[in-house]
Order: sequence, then structure tokens, then C-alpha cells
Amino acid sequence: MSSEPREFETKIHALSDRHEGIGKVDGQDIPIPFTHLGETVRAEVVYARKGLMQGKLLEVLSPSPDRVPPACQHFGHCGGCQFQHYSESAYKAMKAETIQKALSREGLKKALDDFFFVGPRNRRRVDFWIKNIHGTLKMGFQRMGTRFIEDIAECPMMHPMMEGLLTPLRETLSPLLEPREGFHIHLVKVKAGVDILLSGRKRVLSETEQQALVSFAEAHPVVRLQVKQGKTYHNLHQTQTPTVQFGNAEVEVTPNCFLQASEASDQILGDLVVKAIGSPSQKVFDLFCGRGTLSLPLVAAGHDVHGAEGDLRSIQALQAAAPCPENFTCRDLYHSPYEAADFKDFDAIVLNPPRTGAPAQIPTLAAAKIPLIVYVSCNPETFAQDAHHLLKEGYTLRTLWGVDQFHWAHHVEVVGVFTRN
Ligand SMILES: C[S@@+](CC[C@H](N)C(=O)[O-])C[C@H]1O[C@@H](n2cnc3c(N)ncnc32)[C@H](O)[C@@H]1O
Repeated sequence: MSSEPREFETKIHALSDRHEGIGKVDGQDIPIPFTHLGETVRAEVVYARKGLMQGKLLEVLSPSPDRVPPACQHFGHCGGCQFQHYSESAYKAMKAETIQKALSREGLKKALDDFFFVGPRNRRRVDFWIKNIHGTLKMGFQRMGTRFIEDIAECPMMHPMMEGLLTPLRETLSPLLEPREGFHIHLVKVKAGVDILLSGRKRVLSETEQQALVSFAEAHPVVRLQVKQGKTYHNLHQTQTPTVQFGNAEVEVTPNCFLQASEASDQILGDLVVKAIGSPSQKVFDLFCGRGTLSLPLVAAGHDVHGAEGDLRSIQALQAAAPCPENFTCRDLYHSPYEAADFKDFDAIVLNPPRTGAPAQIPTLAAAKIPLIVYVSCNPETFAQDAHHLLKEGYTLRTLWGVDQFHWAHHVEVVGVFTRN
């Protein structure tokens, strides 16, 4: 088949695991993003090679009752959101189905006990580009699967304080970019404002350019503005140390450090973990503890909390904020997982691994026979694999919660509470 764009009409007859609509062209299945099951659409083939095809939606000819107008003018082009065309009820059902399907692939059945939705205008960490492309300025995310940048004027998934910086950032940065130059912009909403890191422009900033950036930062709620040139970070503006609040503690953050997607998700996940551990005071080990999103609310709830994490800077930030710094250790839990005997004094384990799950740690954890395990996961697939192992070793999945912290994206968080008699 030629790779020239070619129009066709089709009915969406199935959905992929990521809820992308699947139509047919020349008798062959083709994914067409931003469509609903049952819709008839006009689309074009934008890629066809080695049996793989990709479709692009041009027009919805018979809309699904689940279709709603998108909240953002850039939806479908910018690469940030996948599901603005879903009604609220269809969106919630789709997210719940994602979790249920992942469990059922591992032969597990457990209804969700509750589902928490963070909603739009909450995302606290975003990375995007501003580039001078042949004299035309584009600022936005890289369009899905491509190197193109959709020029954005709004972003309703961002925290409003960051969205409010889009226009001033564009006005400040555009005179600093010659053709083919760009800045990678990292924004993090912290407790007292926004932490900004600019990287990617190779030319050293002149005095005048630095002053333009300082004036921008002084005029807006910017806590810190850094520019990375080569391997060096230049701090051009700082009103205070950028921090986030976990439990009773304020923890220092950096522009590239791990944080949950929003302040609301910190609160929801922290509350759920505290609820699952319950009372009275327990001795808890938090595996993959990061900067203490879950550890510090547990400390505030009166538990004796210990933790391990592979990133040294995260552990140092947590140690600086925690009342019990000696309890937290830097350790690679993929290559040096704890042995079962290491957990013998603990009443409960909390774990929140990366998307790949905890394949090295789960077997010894199961063998330790701790009465309570609270597993927080950003990937229902690997959660289900690890859950399968725990159930085989005598655990029961007592409670299952969903947390939708990446609004309009396909990601979903799951929290499982495992007990054993
Ligand atoms: C999903 S995050 C959770 C962090 C923390 N629980 C939170 O909520 O902020 C996963 C964490 O695992 C850490 N990590 C990644 N690979 C690791 C490894 N091999 N050993 C230990 N920790 C690792 C990351 O640095 C990150 O902090």
C-alpha cells in the first residue's frame, strides 16, 4: 500500500487496549484515535508500512451518544490528551474498564471499591517546547508520535497558575530564539508558585537576555528560574526554596524529580494509604518511597515509617524533611531487593514502584508473610502481574481503589490492599 494520505469511510468496530477506535480499510484493521465504538467516520491513512497502518480522524459522520465537544481547541492535534471526546459517564466507565481488563488478563476478579477523579486544571508538572521553526514560533507539546509541535494558546489540563504563564513565556522567549533554536520548558507547580527550568538552547545567554528572563520571573508567581546550558544550571531568579507539602513536612523539589501528577493526587493517595494502614501505630516499610509522598502522611498519622528508594537526591530531600531521617535509605530495589528476613519486624508494607512494577522485590515480599501490603501502582498491567504472585502466595486482595490523576490521558492509578490470615 502507498504511504500517501488516502481518505476512506469506516465504522469503528472495536477498541484497542488503550481505547483507540479501530476501523477497517481494504479489509484490514486500522486504529483511528479520538473515535468511539459504533461511530461511522471519515478518516485518512497517514501511515501504511509492513502491515502496520495508522488512521487520522477527519470527520465524525454518525456520532456516538458518548461523544461530547472537547474542552480545548487543540484536542486531537497537540499530543497531550486522548479522551476529551468522552462524556463524563463514558470516561469514568472507560477508566474502570482499563483496570478490570488488566486484572482479568491475569485471571483476577475484584470490583473497584471506589474510584477517585482528580479532574482537569490540576496537572502540576509539564514539559513542552518553544521553537523558532524557519522564522515561525511554535510553543507546545510534541504532537503524538511525531516531532511536530502544535502551537498552543491554552491547556485546560494544566494547573491554572502554569497555564497563566503560557503567553508571558512566549512573549519573553520568542526574541531569544533565532531560526532553528528552541527551549525545552519544564514547569512544576510548587507550594509557593512555579519552578521553571529552561534547557536546550546552545548559545550562551547574553546579559540582556538574562535580564529579560529575570524581569519575566519577577513579574509572575515564579519561585525559581533556572537555565541549563551544557551540564551547568544557572540560577537567574529565586525567591525561596521550591517545596511541596507531604503530611506535615515541606520537601524540596527539583524540576525533573518524580512527583505525582497533582497536589490533589498527593492528598488522595496519602489519605488512602493512611486509611489502609489504619490504627493503632504500625511499623511500616515504604518501598520506592521517592521524596515521601506516602511516607510523610504515614509519619504524620503516628506510624513508625521506614523507606527505600533508588534515587539519591530524592532520599536526601526526604531525609532533610522527615523527623526520622535515619529510617530512609538509598537502595536499588531492582538489583538489590530486600530479603524476606529484612521485613521480619514490620507490620505493613507500602510499595509504589515505577511502571515496570516490582518483579525483583515481590517474591521476597510475599515470602516474608507480612500481614498487610498496600500497593500503589501507575500501571494496572504490572500491578495485576504482581498481585497474581501475592494471591498465589496466600494473600487476598481485600480492597481495590482507582485514582484517575492523569485527566483525559490513558494512564490510571490503582491502589490494592492485600491481607493474609
Ligand atoms: C511511582 S514513583 C513513586 C515515588 C513515591 N512513592 C511517590 O509517591 O512520590 C517510583 C519511584 O521508584 C524509584 N525507582 C525507580 N527505579 C528504582 C530502583 N531500581 N530502585 C529503587 N527505586 C527506584 C523512582 O526514583 C521513583 O521515586
